[in-house]
Amino acid sequence: MGTNGLFHVIDTRQFDRPMLDHLCRLATHVRTLAKSKAGAQSLQALAPDRRAMLYFTQPSTRTFLSFNSACHILGMRTSEIRNPSISSEVKGETFEDSIRTFSSYADVIIMRTPEGGKAARAAEIMNAIPRPVPVINAGSGPDQHPTQALLDIYTLERSFEQRGGIDGRTIAMMGDLRRGRTVRSLSYLMKNYKDVRLRFVAPPGFEIKRDILDHLDAHGIEHQSASRLDDILDGLDALYVTRLQKEYDERNESESADYAPYSIGPEQLRRFPSDAIIMHPLPRGPELAPGIDNDPRVMYWRQERNGMWMRAALLAAIFDLDSGLDME
Ligand code: NCD
Repeated sequence: MGTNGLFHVIDTRQFDRPMLDHLCRLATHVRTLAKSKAGAQSLQALAPDRRAMLYFTQPSTRTFLSFNSACHILGMRTSEIRNPSISSEVKGETFEDSIRTFSSYADVIIMRTPEGGKAARAAEIMNAIPRPVPVINAGSGPDQHPTQALLDIYTLERSFEQRGGIDGRTIAMMGDLRRGRTVRSLSYLMKNYKDVRLRFVAPPGFEIKRDILDHLDAHGIEHQSASRLDDILDGLDALYVTRLQKEYDERNESESADYAPYSIGPEQLRRFPSDAIIMHPLPRGPELAPGIDNDPRVMYWRQERNGMWMRAALLAAIFDLDSGLDME
């Protein structure tokens, strides 16, 4: 475990403000260094002896590629399993044995699964063996996606640098909030910021779950729910748009959802505050019109890049390489 106490990364409730600020500073440092040849070489020299196992049994483009790139930025080597049908799972190997096996070859396990709770279970398995390696949750079913929330925080901090950061901001989240794990993980992090106001806009039946609202209430975070985008635009600093999470349907409920009012395109943008930003974890569905992609308020392409810097920062912090990053 690093001197900062970071080992497994499972759920955003484990982060406090000093750690979030530290990771944002570290991400900026990695980003700056990576842009020069000498800086990139010094980053590569940080962890050439470390190996990462990327175990992704649920589809992924950005999270997989950005973790892969983050590892390579730090000079790490990577192995991957993306298709369980060609691993020993088809021979009936248990999850417990597979995870323990990964730790024989890797110094960190980065994993994404379609089921909830699996990363937490992998961390428990690790904690019960003599030489555990850290487990990073890269998305566990509909419950948590902590590293997405970290890159979202980094994007918000960068966007509001001139306005004092995230403290005091009004942030709206729109879409399938019931099953969107990115919104759930990001909402948990808001307890670390002062005077943040949250606004939730969701189609009927897809509202944010009670456990998140209870968490916000327990931490005194102001929040309101609305059914129309126009009702929450006034004084808004950021809108976080999400897609309909059809893959978690139990009874084809997405089929009957009217998602059109939860979309954003050139027309909605005309009524949007001139200094508010638009975020989306991607991939997009029809809720995000490509026609707005080049608007200066759009941050989703920057989120993708920030994911790589933040994940490199996170790995550096887990492996206690922060001092080697020459933090001023
Ligand atoms: C998100 C995810 O996988 O939860 N994507 C991502 O990691 N950038 C969002 C989504 O799939 O809707």
